[in-house]
Amino acid sequence: MQQVPSEFKLMPEQASTMAGQVDALYFYLVGITLFFTVLIVSGIIFFAVKYRRRSPYEIPRPIAGSMKLETIWTLIPFLIAMSIFVWGAKVYFAQYRIPKDALDIYVVGKQWMWKMQHPTGQREINELHIPMGRKVRLTMTTEDVIHSFYIPDFRVKMDVVPGRYTQMWFEATKPGRYHLFCAEYCGMDHSKMRGTIVVMRPDEYQAWVSGNASQMSPVQLGEQHFQNLGCATCHLNGGRDAGGRGPQLAGIFGKPVQLETGQTVVADENYLRESILNPGAKIVAGYSAIMPTYQGQVSEEQLLQLIAYIKSLTPQGGSGTASPTPASSTSANMNVGAQASGSPSGQRR
Ligand code: CUA
Repeated sequence: MQQVPSEFKLMPEQASTMAGQVDALYFYLVGITLFFTVLIVSGIIFFAVKYRRRSPYEIPRPIAGSMKLETIWTLIPFLIAMSIFVWGAKVYFAQYRIPKDALDIYVVGKQWMWKMQHPTGQREINELHIPMGRKVRLTMTTEDVIHSFYIPDFRVKMDVVPGRYTQMWFEATKPGRYHLFCAEYCGMDHSKMRGTIVVMRPDEYQAWVSGNASQMSPVQLGEQHFQNLGCATCHLNGGRDAGGRGPQLAGIFGKPVQLETGQTVVADENYLRESILNPGAKIVAGYSAIMPTYQGQVSEEQLLQLIAYIKSLTPQGGSGTASPTPASSTSANMNVGAQASGSPSGQRR
């Protein structure tokens, strides 16, 4: 692994689209703080000198309140505080609204390493190659304790929490190698849980991706697990109407799901995860709680791959090209096949 340059710098490099926005707000705060520090300290000194006690018997002239003064020194701090709030909220939403059109990278943290998988199948440990000028979305979880994925040069940081998924995104603006740190104390080797983000020009990234293309993609791996775990026997295209004992999964991702309790939830990554590990938690309306738990049978990486596969499925009659990788066209066929083979007339329940 190449050494990341480590000359002394007051600020980390600005290497993402967020970096400038975060820094501008940061310098605004520093500026306000400096301004008032100077104003207050020089006021203290000035008044201490000007109104010092000149004789031991001096009694100061009494002063009444000033409405004008009170209003001014209430209004100005209020406006300053609101400007920080509004600006901060703007930056916050820019950072925490996850874009949809992004390169999907799956991250699993564990004591003490970062494991990443690309949509095209490449796996990396403590290193992540990404293209410059493209939005990258990380879907992250951990096998053990809480970690935190932190890239100072990008000004992004997100906790990585056991038992659920968190997401973050960034768009790198400069090729280079950047530090990745774990920013949540996670045990003995926490300080060694670091890595490198390698930002490449798009053509270099393409070359890197195709040079490492022997692995199966998360979607393909997910399809394998889907078969091996027997998911396909119950989750048919068409769901109940096609004789399936479980709901149809194709096209479900990102859509609202009606539960038997009458509630509606959106089928996002965390919902799919829960439905695999704890199927009884949210039963889809019209189905019974017959699915066994897969807790302990699938690793965090396999779960992410299963979810990648479910995300890639397009409902029957759709264009069939919405899968993230061309190789997964087989997966769509598989589901159609499952439907054909698993739909004898009549209900199975
Ligand atoms: Cu992982 Cu600190």
